[in-house]
Amino acid sequence: MARLLVTGGAGFIGSHVAEYYARQGWQVRVVDNLSRPRIFAGKLRPDLSNWSYLEQFDNVQLVRGDVRDADLMDSLAADVDVIAHCAAQTAVTTSLVDPRMDFENNVIGTFNVLEAARKSRHRPTVVFCSTNKVYGENVNLIPVREKETRYEFDGLYRRGISETFGVDNCEHTPYGASKLTADIYAQEYANQYGLRVGVFRMSCIYGTRQFGVEDQGWVAWFAIAALTGQPVTIYGDGKQVRDLLFVSDLVRAFDAFVQSDWQHLVVNMGGGPDNTLSLLELVRMLEELTGHRMTLRFDEWRPSDQKVYISDISQARLALRWEPKIAPEEGVKRLVAWVAENRHLFEAAPQVQEVPVASQQEPVGVA
Ligand SMILES: NC(=O)c1ccc[n+]([C@@H]2O[C@H](COP(=O)([O-])OP(=O)(O)OC[C@H]3O[C@@H](n4cnc5c(N)ncnc54)[C@H](O)[C@@H]3O)[C@@H](O)[C@H]2O)c1
Repeated sequence: MARLLVTGGAGFIGSHVAEYYARQGWQVRVVDNLSRPRIFAGKLRPDLSNWSYLEQFDNVQLVRGDVRDADLMDSLAADVDVIAHCAAQTAVTTSLVDPRMDFENNVIGTFNVLEAARKSRHRPTVVFCSTNKVYGENVNLIPVREKETRYEFDGLYRRGISETFGVDNCEHTPYGASKLTADIYAQEYANQYGLRVGVFRMSCIYGTRQFGVEDQGWVAWFAIAALTGQPVTIYGDGKQVRDLLFVSDLVRAFDAFVQSDWQHLVVNMGGGPDNTLSLLELVRMLEELTGHRMTLRFDEWRPSDQKVYISDISQARLALRWEPKIAPEEGVKRLVAWVAENRHLFEAAPQVQEVPVASQQEPVGVA
């Protein structure tokens, strides 16, 4: 029976990866330090993670541990066939306040995963969750046109940002830098040591079981706010646009790589130009779905925020024979239904968390 290790498996994406393979009959091992629930609720509440959700599967083993622990990673990875590396410090803002913590989680953590894979005699395939933030401020050099509810890329970039887009000579934020470092390390382990490595540079992934907060997971955060009557602060004018990918479409792309013959692949991953929304358009959609008017506040643009980010997904389409299937209209409806069914988890959920910087994780950035 095939075996999978999911790092950050109690998180949003990791838990969907774990569930998908558990349902296929794989033996799944999840490792997570449960730092995300602390961000969401200000204290450790595993029910505010997907840890408790995964307890229903007999073939999922839950390990509370940290990817920064090299020995632990060596032992957890020793007998698996695939590693989905989803654990990370996911917040741009946190990375600015505590770059060392960001570096240790994202670079050392990834290095430990890659080393564990290299040393394992099973030579596991590694799927790495990278990000569009590797392209940094270069994205903002692309001219945009302002429309009534959104910005649009002009001319050449209407298909979005491809994998050949420049990463040099621009700001990234420490989060972008740590993820880019990890991304390059992952590629290097494919090149030097012949590991099978898929690097997915993800744009905005959204879906059920996403505990979004103001600083990260904006689609889920807006849905939670819409249903719990909390005000939402929009940084900038709300016309910023992202391509949205529903989480099950992402997991299908991961699996397409795992099942493929590719030894090494780097792809931009998102909904692409056909599945985009601006913040204002999401607000309108949520108001229609819930029948409630949302309370909006506007504030200054955040540093390094991209006015438009849209992934060019041609390479993923071609290499993985993959297509996004769930349009934002349908995906947001599913997300809203999940929040409504689990309203008790969100009623007391604070909007912004005060997390002691030295303690851990926290997310940020419209990504
Ligand atoms: N959600 C998105 O739109 C998006 C976009 C681009 C990239 N990503 C990347 O995808 C991955 C998953 O993101 P997500 O949205 O599911 O975030 P998430 O916060 O829901 O999941 C991350 C999980 O990792 C755990 N974790 C953090 N540090 C850890 C450590 N040192 N050891 C063990 N566990 C640790 C957290 O507790 C959390 O459960 C991250 O690498 C993130 O950078 C996400």
